[in-house]
Amino acid sequence: MAVGVGSWLVLGGDDVEHALPEAAGQAGLVSQLRPLIRELSEPGELVFDPFAGWGTTLVAASVEGRRGFGIEVNEERAEDARKRLVSYPGQTMICGDARKPPLEAGSVDLVLCDLPYFGTNLNTDATDGAQFYALRDYDDYLGALDEAFGAIAETMRPGARAVIAVQNRRIADRFVPLAWDAARVLGRHLTLGDERIHLYDRPTGGDDPMLTNRSHEYLVMATK
Ligand SMILES: C[S@@+](CC[C@H](N)C(=O)[O-])C[C@H]1O[C@@H](n2cnc3c(N)ncnc32)[C@H](O)[C@@H]1O
Repeated sequence: MAVGVGSWLVLGGDDVEHALPEAAGQAGLVSQLRPLIRELSEPGELVFDPFAGWGTTLVAASVEGRRGFGIEVNEERAEDARKRLVSYPGQTMICGDARKPPLEAGSVDLVLCDLPYFGTNLNTDATDGAQFYALRDYDDYLGALDEAFGAIAETMRPGARAVIAVQNRRIADRFVPLAWDAARVLGRHLTLGDERIHLYDRPTGGDDPMLTNRSHEYLVMATK
């Protein structure tokens, strides 16, 4: 961990200039990602988000003067991200599968992503065959993560860092240690280095599948 950087951070709202209110709760915050990008990469370097959603990581990469590459499996969302990124130079967003990144081995300087969580009601009727949200068996889901992390690790240069944002979850009456299981899987491909905790100042609970009874998220950090 860099000296002077604490292991936790309380997040306020997003920077209004770059926020995407319609994706709130499912998308990351530009204001959350920018300090990580500054800390873990250099200007001009390549930031890769394999589960890029609405392209928030790439917005933050552009604002910080980094090149960005994002993959999103859902066609419509990838298109929304492309439209959002029109005014953010240096970014490439494609529709595809995180397990098959079309990037040269060793070309990535920083991986930064939010995982598609297991056990949500999101995209259950996905027609995109590679959609992780549609996986209904936890072992299959962890197997898919394993494949994705292996492919992502291949794209990273030696010494490159990866930061994976993920929460543990309560699904029906079970506690599912998704963050810890994902870290264990990531550790098969990269050297685990650290964890941070981001605290969200927002209400918890309710019917929204993305709202749990907790308002913190782990950032699992690893190095190639
Ligand atoms: C939590 S969202 C990411 C949001 C993103 N960080 C943002 O701030 O805009 C996870 C995304 O992963 C996508 N996804 C699921 N399976 C995928 C796969 N196999 N390859 C690429 N993306 C996938 C989902 O469609 C979803 O948009």
